[in-house]
Amino acid sequence: MSDNGKEKVTLTIDGREVTVDKGTNVLEAAKSVGIEIPYFCWHPKLDSVGACRMCLVAIEKIPKPAVACATAVMPDIAISSTSENVCSTPCLNNDCWLIMNTWILFLLLLFMIFTPIMAMIYQARL
Ligand code: FES
Repeated sequence: MSDNGKEKVTLTIDGREVTVDKGTNVLEAAKSVGIEIPYFCWHPKLDSVGACRMCLVAIEKIPKPAVACATAVMPDIAISSTSENVCSTPCLNNDCWLIMNTWILFLLLLFMIFTPIMAMIYQARL
């Protein structure tokens, strides 16, 4: 138990021991010790949807990469945020970098196309 009455969970992220409140997501736990995991769709004041897949991490005992923003911390587990551990199986000739950058460009393009359209629609309604 901590001062705020919440149960604490201790885990390891990239070799560093982290102690956070139970229910904290992996992304926030990593941030609390200065480990930066890239993210795109997560915001602390919104529910996590895990849509963009930017924040993938490798969690021991879980065979596939997990989204850090929508995964709650678990006691006594080891998490790796480095790409060589997240992508242990070579995919598409190790073109993850190209795939992720293409995905980000696609999301930005959608944003650039639909933001002015949505603004016009909402202005027309007023
Ligand atoms: S930040 Fe988008 S899936 Fe985690």
